[in-house]
Amino acid sequence: MTHLLDAVAIWKRFGALDVLKGVDVSVTPGECLVLLGPSGSGKSTLLRCLNLLEPIASGSIMFEGQEIANTPRKQAALLRRRMGMVFQNFELFQHLSAEDNIIFGPIRVKHRPVKQARELARHLLRKVHLPDKAAAFPDELSGGQQQRVAIARALAMEPALMLYDEPTSALDPETVGEVLSVMQELAEEGMTSIVVTHELGFARRAANEVMFMEAGLVAHRAPVGDFFNGSAPERVARFLNRMHG
Ligand SMILES: Nc1ncnc2c1ncn2[C@@H]1O[C@H](COP(=O)(O)OP(=O)(O)OP(=O)(O)O)[C@@H](O)[C@H]1O
Ligand SMILES: [Mg+2]
Repeated sequence: MTHLLDAVAIWKRFGALDVLKGVDVSVTPGECLVLLGPSGSGKSTLLRCLNLLEPIASGSIMFEGQEIANTPRKQAALLRRRMGMVFQNFELFQHLSAEDNIIFGPIRVKHRPVKQARELARHLLRKVHLPDKAAAFPDELSGGQQQRVAIARALAMEPALMLYDEPTSALDPETVGEVLSVMQELAEEGMTSIVVTHELGFARRAANEVMFMEAGLVAHRAPVGDFFNGSAPERVARFLNRMHG
């Protein structure tokens, strides 16, 4: 089983604070890995280290068969295109329509012909169930719709891996489901993904594996079935129970 991404012993410090203390994380092609853990455990930092937004103190990150941990800044931008990142606050360009948000990267960064980029954008808008919103501006869309445009925008760069950091935690409850459905459909189609979320239902439905982080360490990792069947360590089980409310 070859990994698409295989990070080993990731160590990350902010000043005197050790935030990641030897984290291993890997995904195989087509796999969806859900990352759970309490606030401050290092989930966002881990994603940012994986896509080279944050330098690490030590550790190895193999991505698409290449060691990328010590990539110089300039090449890091190139590599980052192979990973689509979706954040809590979608950060769309407010002055651009949905379609223009999506074609921005393909045209500016990948130098795709405009016509081809527009065709891709239309295709992706159908994929995220927004076929009629090409001309809509972000402020004319609900949070859930904006987040789906943000997902389409990330997909437009044709990433090998999608990284989602709490993509639904800033949304109104009624729009959470539509975003999770799109993410699940993408996962089912074979899009490799790492998803930080508190949505346990999504984890059950879409994840192949679940990893639980605590205080900068991996406290538990298991195939999704095992993770939720009560075999998790006591403190992980307690956290899951609290999340159920
Ligand atoms: N740029 C930074 N400078 C200093 N400390 C930071 C920085 N970013 C994160 N931290 C610290 O690193 C730790 C982990 O933060 P991180 O945001 O990765 O946690 P998280 O698991 O994503 O939490 P949450 O569930 O609240 O999003 C926290 O103690 C945080 O204060
Ligand atoms: Mg976070």
